[in-house]
Amino acid sequence: MQVEVINENPFIIVGERLQGSLKTYINELNPESVVIVCDDNTFKYCHSAYKTVFDSFERSQTLIVNSGDTSKNLENAVFIWEKLAANNASRKSLLIALGGGMICDLAAFAASVFMRGIPLVLMPTSILAMVDAAIGGKTGLNFNSIKNLLGTFRNPEAVFADLHFLSTLPFDEANSGKAEVLKHALLQGESKFEEFKSEFDKPLSVSATSASMRFKLSITQADFEEKGIREILNLGHTSAHAIESLYLYRNKTLLHGNAVAAGLWIESLISELFFDFPAEFNFVELRNFIGLKFSRLDFSESDIPFLLNAMSSDKKNKIGLRSFVLLNQDYSPKIGCHPSEELITTACLRYLQDA
Ligand code: GLY
Repeated sequence: MQVEVINENPFIIVGERLQGSLKTYINELNPESVVIVCDDNTFKYCHSAYKTVFDSFERSQTLIVNSGDTSKNLENAVFIWEKLAANNASRKSLLIALGGGMICDLAAFAASVFMRGIPLVLMPTSILAMVDAAIGGKTGLNFNSIKNLLGTFRNPEAVFADLHFLSTLPFDEANSGKAEVLKHALLQGESKFEEFKSEFDKPLSVSATSASMRFKLSITQADFEEKGIREILNLGHTSAHAIESLYLYRNKTLLHGNAVAAGLWIESLISELFFDFPAEFNFVELRNFIGLKFSRLDFSESDIPFLLNAMSSDKKNKIGLRSFVLLNQDYSPKIGCHPSEELITTACLRYLQDA
């Protein structure tokens, strides 16, 4: 069975059925107690595969929170801290996150703050969590209706990405998760995009997953606290977060990957308009591909002012500016672009018309 160790510190391993490696790793870490955090879905579909390993550790307990992004809140961080305190946890206690992006961000935040930081192992169970949330040391909670308003930067001790978990995901969740892999491919240029397209319909392999994780790792190691180059990872995300805010406002659910795919569609068009590409360099193939493989999102022309407003309140902006990462015609990303309101509106209208 293929297993790849892609980094030593933090230790990052990708493969299928990593029970043996996890047990050895944690025995060597020798924590005083172990707390596993999962949500009701990952408890139901993923926990049992590792139960024997978890039960073999001294003083281990499992905490379950409700699934869904709304659980990424301060109340659940307090819930984890209360359980750790009640269990007499120390700086040598270990927190294990078993779940998607929400669980990884929540548990990582709780671990980074408790006693100024206790060891953390991430076990991402979705594509998004493997290639994005588990890499780069961002922790986060939603606060005051703003996504990830609270957070810290702190690497886990280890990431165990077991691809077997991906077979437990519903189709739309697995499919939409590939939007972050698409983003990483685009940021590496046209040939990676072509490779990604040709592999899209196959289940994600160990080598494709680890390549995407390695790419993110290379960026986050170069700029851990997002003071420069790491910002390129926000490609597609200014629009995606605005659409997610609209769905949140309407109380409608939206998979983050589908929002990112729509964001990449819109921002490819903004790139062409902003840099005034010659037509032969337009990202038509990218948009056709997104239209074919990802869900079309539901908003209308009258929602565009809401989106424009959400884009200007995005936390990564300088006050009052809408900040985008755009792609040049050779796919090289440019951070800190400020397209006009008219240009963004045109791109959104074309999405509604053509996507
Ligand atoms: N999700 C983007 C980053 O971790 O920087």
